Amino acid sequence: MRAVLPMLLLLVASAAVGSAAAAGRRKGEGTRYSVMAFHAAGDGETDDSKAFEETWDSACRDSGGATLYVPEGRTFLLGETKLQGPCKSPITLQVDGDIVAPSSLWTLKSLTSLLAFYRVDNLTVDGIGQIDGRGAPWWHCYNQKKCHYRPQLVSFSFCNGLRVTNIRLKDSADKHMSVFECSQVQVHNVTVMAPGNSPNTDGITMGASDHVRISSCNIHSGDDCVSILTGTTDVNVTDVTCGPGHGISVGSLGGASEKPALVERITVSNCNFFNTMTGVRIKSWQGGRGKANTFLFRDLNMTQVRYPIDIDQFYCPQGNCPKREGGVAITDARFINIRGTSSEQEAIQILCSKSVPCHGIFLHNVDLSWANHTAPTKAKILNAQGSVAGTVKPQVRFRGL
Ligand SMILES: *[C@@H]1O[C@H](CO)[C@@H](O)[C@H](O)[C@H]1NC(C)=O
Ligand SMILES: *[C@@H]1O[C@H](CO)[C@@H](O)[C@H](O)[C@H]1NC(C)=O
Ligand SMILES: *[C@@H]1O[C@H](CO)[C@@H](O)[C@H](O)[C@H]1NC(C)=O
Ligand SMILES: *[C@@H]1O[C@H](CO)[C@@H](O)[C@H](O)[C@H]1NC(C)=O
Ligand SMILES: *[C@@H]1O[C@H](CO)[C@@H](O)[C@H](O)[C@H]1NC(C)=O
Repeated sequence: MRAVLPMLLLLVASAAVGSAAAAGRRKGEGTRYSVMAFHAAGDGETDDSKAFEETWDSACRDSGGATLYVPEGRTFLLGETKLQGPCKSPITLQVDGDIVAPSSLWTLKSLTSLLAFYRVDNLTVDGIGQIDGRGAPWWHCYNQKKCHYRPQLVSFSFCNGLRVTNIRLKDSADKHMSVFECSQVQVHNVTVMAPGNSPNTDGITMGASDHVRISSCNIHSGDDCVSILTGTTDVNVTDVTCGPGHGISVGSLGGASEKPALVERITVSNCNFFNTMTGVRIKSWQGGRGKANTFLFRDLNMTQVRYPIDIDQFYCPQGNCPKREGGVAITDARFINIRGTSSEQEAIQILCSKSVPCHGIFLHNVDLSWANHTAPTKAKILNAQGSVAGTVKPQVRFRGL
């Protein structure tokens, strides 16, 4: 009988904080809100979006650093799920269970994501779970030119303080993870898995963001492993394995957007590339405005990469771009300790415009050979000024501009 009173008190206390009655408190940490307590089915068939959003609303209103918990051993089917801030305190989404998108085309709208975080500060997304976009019908639809819009898998916009760790992302209909207008971002030990021929399935893409660190990630996709778009500064990408995919790209910059492009202080180090289209590249459209500078690409291994080093001020994927004067000014790009094999003979391409040539290109200890060929690799350099040091293979000659 003695146990009854404390039990009652506990019930009353938890009822007082509303839906947190369903949540558990862990020692020294905030309250844990399990989606199961908010009537998620977790059977892989029932749409649990609403349960996730309701769980989120409670966790987000908690001022004690809450965790939204997605339990292991279950699969949650979601449609478009919006997780919005601002929240009262730092918040964690712990994804230990699996999340899947519907198996057929499920939205016609533009700018949708399966999980869309908006204006959430000090957010951690962690867990051993997998988020599967079930993208195959979307890729098919896109290839048949029928789907104009496809949903992204996970998007973060307008945030400050973001950590994404350990989760696995798979087969997104479009980009797997996008970061827009965020500051202080860490992505660590995240895996992305999609077929090499799946269209536009970039791994991690970011724009208008600063202070971003991406480390120890493994990315297989049909587009860029990591892409860095305009308005982004201070990014470090390290210990990333990339391939298949298009490589780690800056741009494309200077497109139709009116604002001049700006990208600065980007470092890519200690990465491995396997069978990718490019290794590291900076791409911009003809006629763009703005600048891209202070790049360091170092300690990179290339295995059968088409163009391991690529700067392209004439980016034109459809091959039908009219000639335009001007371009985004690319300066101070250093390539140090880059080795391995290319699948094309022209392992290095640095193609800059006559009106806005590239400056300050520096290559030090670059050793690239042509996979399965005895002939040496070549470099194609156009309108670029720079210098070389140590061994540089293929031979690179900068002519006076
Ligand atoms: C996020 O963290 C920063 C720095 O610690 C703090 O100033 C801010 O108040 C926090 N915001 C929230 C919503 O937790
Ligand atoms: C990386 O994440 C996976 C889950 O995706 C986990 O099993 C593994 O332990 C993590 N590695 C480290 C070093 O934390
Ligand atoms: C990136 O690396 C540079 C040089 O080590 C360091 O100064 C900077 O703080 C790092 N930035 C991030 C976001 O990790
Ligand atoms: C690149 O390959 C070399 C030789 O196989 C290896 O020693 C080095 O650790 C690799 N670098 C990375 C970043 O994995
Ligand atoms: C090089 O040879 C290997 C082994 O025969 C093969 O798997 C690979 O596709 C070849 N690479 C290229 C670029 O031809």
